[in-house]
Order: sequence, then C-alpha cells, then structure tokens
Amino acid sequence: MGFSGVPPTIMAQCLHEGFSHPNGYSNESKDIKIGSMQMFFKNSSSCEDVGPGNFPVEEVHKISVLDIRIANADRHSGNILISKGDDGKTVLIPIDHGYCLPETFEDCTFDWRYWPQAREPYSLDTVDYIRTLDAEQDIALLKYYGWDVSPDCARTLRVSTMLLKKAVERGFTPFAIGSIMCRETINEESVIEGIIREAEESLLPGMSEAAFLDITSQIMDSTLDKLGK
Ligand SMILES: Nc1ncnc2c1ncn2[C@@H]1O[C@H](COP(=O)(O)OP(=O)(O)OP(=O)(O)O)[C@@H](O)[C@H]1O
Ligand SMILES: [Mg+2]
Repeated sequence: MGFSGVPPTIMAQCLHEGFSHPNGYSNESKDIKIGSMQMFFKNSSSCEDVGPGNFPVEEVHKISVLDIRIANADRHSGNILISKGDDGKTVLIPIDHGYCLPETFEDCTFDWRYWPQAREPYSLDTVDYIRTLDAEQDIALLKYYGWDVSPDCARTLRVSTMLLKKAVERGFTPFAIGSIMCRETINEESVIEGIIREAEESLLPGMSEAAFLDITSQIMDSTLDKLGK
C-alpha cells in the first residue's frame, strides 16, 4: 500500500463483444479495451453517506496529497470509501481514479476542501513525504509500467507536484492548496490556471518544456508569497 492507501491496481486489457464497438466487432486486437482492475476493499459506505466530523486528520490529508499530485478531477465524496483498521480506527480508501492527470486544470474538484481536517496543517511526516516526490521519476515509472503519459498530462503532473512542494514549504494547508487548484465558479479560472496562462503568454514560440517550467516556477513563487501574506 502506498502513502495514500489506493487499493492495489493493475492495468488490464479486455476483449468482449458486449463493450461499445461503434465500428463493428471482429474479435481482433483492434477491439481490445484498456482499463484497470483494482483489489476489492471491504467498506461500510462512502463518504457521501457520512458527515466528515470523525474522519482522522491524517486520513483526509493522505487523500489530499494524492489529489493535488494527480490533479484529480473526480474527487467527490462518493469516491472515498470508509473502512475500519485492525485498531478500530476509521480508514479512508480513495477509489475511482479514472479522471486524473487531465490536460488542463479546469475540472479539478476536491470535496475534502469543505471538511474541517483540510484546514489543519500537514504533519512533519507528511511534509517529509512530499519532499521526496519527483514528477520526472513518476513519469518514468508510469512509462516503465506501460503508460507513456502525453506531453499535456505530463505537464499537469509536473505543475501540480511543483505546487504541492512549494506550498507545503510555505506552510499552506490542504484547503489553501486545494483552493489554488479548483475553480471558485465554473466560469472563473483558478489560481493555477492563471499561473499557467501567464507562463505560456511569456514564452517565445518553440521554447522548451524546461523553459516553461522555469517561468512557471518563478510566477508560482511570487503568487504563493503574495497569497501567504
Ligand atoms: N476497490 C474497491 N473496493 C470496493 N468497492 C469498490 C472499489 N472500487 C469501486 N468500488 C465500488 O464500486 C462503485 C463504483 O466504482 P467507481 O466509483 O470506480 O466507478 P464509477 O465510474 O464512479 O461508477 P458509477 O458511475 O456507478 O458511480 C463505488 O462507489 C464502490 O461502491
Ligand atoms: Mg465513482
């Protein structure tokens, strides 16, 4: 089990006539669907059915770290299951990561932003874990396991990891970081979208991804310093 407690998951390929095949089905490799298969975890319900008051702070925080990192665009409370550990403590299980690493940040939603635990600072252990994160290593790992992340999705991972690392060094809470990543209203760009737009506007045509990340890093530093005051 990793830091955030996602049930073990594998990439799976499936061939079956019953799936959607708008161009016809012929039992060939072109008809194979790619998806994932995940270990079933016993649970009492999802967080949709229970008030968040009794969720342990570190359980909410471990999910917030995951969602910020992967820019999760589907973290409504129905996608967190509730279970009990051997010690009787509530354990939160994050599921349904079908809409993560989107090409843009516009759909990011984190229901945990409205929970009181999100306003607590991260523990030192969590900050230490965040310091070990490395987007390039993650991209290489995904490639090794069969997923060559597209340039736009890789950029999302690089920017969200950069934000998470810079923000925790400044003592930002999950709520504060979530509020940078999510739109306040449907039509209003989020703070992170504004940072990326500014970086893209100041780039000359043909400049490298490294140049983009460098400018993004500078704009992010000054934005976070302003927000932190
Ligand atoms: N690892 C798991 N262990 C136990 N139950 C799971 C697990 N993953 C999914 N489920 C159950 O299956 C339901 C649907 O899964 P999931 O959220 O991944 O799909 P979905 O696309 O959102 O489906 P739906 O549209 O029906 O909500 C979950 O609400 C949960 O009850
Ligand atoms: Mg779901």
